[in-house]
Amino acid sequence: MGWIDVMAHNTTRVAILFGGRSAEHDVSRASAANIFRSLDASRYAVTLIGITPEGRWVLADAVNARTAQALTVPPDGPQIVLLPAGQGRALVLGDGAAAPRELTFDVIFPVLHGPNGEDGTMQGALELADVAYVGARVMGSAAAMDKDVAKRLLRDAGLPIVPFVTMTAAAPVSYEDAVHAVGCSELFIKPANLGSSVGISKARTPQEFAAACDLALRFDGKILIERCISPVREIECAVLEHADGEVKASELGEIVPASSHGFYSYAAKYTDASGASLHVPAQVEPGLAQRIRKMATEVFGVLCCESLARVDFFVHGEEVYVNEVNTLPGFTNISMYPKMWEATGLPQPALMDALIAHALARHARLRQLASQR
Ligand SMILES: Nc1ncnc2c1ncn2[C@@H]1O[C@H](COP(=O)(O)OP(=O)(O)O)[C@@H](O)[C@H]1O
Ligand SMILES: [Mg+2]
Repeated sequence: MGWIDVMAHNTTRVAILFGGRSAEHDVSRASAANIFRSLDASRYAVTLIGITPEGRWVLADAVNARTAQALTVPPDGPQIVLLPAGQGRALVLGDGAAAPRELTFDVIFPVLHGPNGEDGTMQGALELADVAYVGARVMGSAAAMDKDVAKRLLRDAGLPIVPFVTMTAAAPVSYEDAVHAVGCSELFIKPANLGSSVGISKARTPQEFAAACDLALRFDGKILIERCISPVREIECAVLEHADGEVKASELGEIVPASSHGFYSYAAKYTDASGASLHVPAQVEPGLAQRIRKMATEVFGVLCCESLARVDFFVHGEEVYVNEVNTLPGFTNISMYPKMWEATGLPQPALMDALIAHALARHARLRQLASQR
């Protein structure tokens, strides 16, 4: 079904994918609950598909989902198989002895954060299924997820990034060499492919540096060693691509981690309710804000993003650095991405409409291109 047909039918069949195999499983469940609630029920017929931590796709119950803080992935729920080249057709298995039941979706909304959801793997599976989906495609997802690759592309485009070196267990870097390379004795060490501040720490001595590298290498074979920016303001911008291809940047937001945490750590993000304060819109001088918003749309293009991305910056006085890009940012009821659009005059239900319209239009366009070959 093309997007014109969908409009004529007036209901769009949306599958929300949530949970998943990454460390951000629970964040995804909370994001998905919020997204489910903000989809206009008179226009969207929603199916909830949970992904277990082991990677099984299961049909989730929508009955209590409207009021839930986080959606539940039923570990023994009926299994779902999305058909390759199925154009949105899926089979529901495991309903007792009954024959597999078929479901069809017009669009899939992968509400998955981190590896196996946000890094291009899921996007590859959705491409093979030949179904419309929300978010960046394989290249944009993969390029933004790998902090080393993303920074090299940004540097190549002349965009400002924090000085860094990359290290693997097979090619270790000494504290002295790292300090020399980034021009600072205080360092940040982080896994290249992760999120939620997992495995990240600061180091000021060779001993702290060795411990920080060991920790980061537990999560990824490749790690980044960066200059510590201090003092730092953490400023974010939401970017949205509309169905007609227009790319817009939102008002800015600011995250101020509680001083007790030192930086925006996992605990400050998720386990300590007062771990950080969020300010939307951020109090940033208009000229600087304009510069950051322009940079956010440039970053979006350089990293081959599509549909949506949250671009995170470090601001140190007048200096601005691009820190990282999230192609499926958090969508909980306190998350920055929807809040920044809200502050820009785009309430969340309208944001959902824009994301789904973009997904359907893109899929129709790509199918037409393929048919001309
Ligand atoms: N180079 C740096 N200088 C200062 N603070 C940093 C630096 N790198 C990371 N941080 C702190 O660590 C947090 C998490 O790092 P980030 O690169 O955003 O990884 P993640 O993908 O896990 O969010 C940041 O929000 C910031 O508080
Ligand atoms: Mg971050």
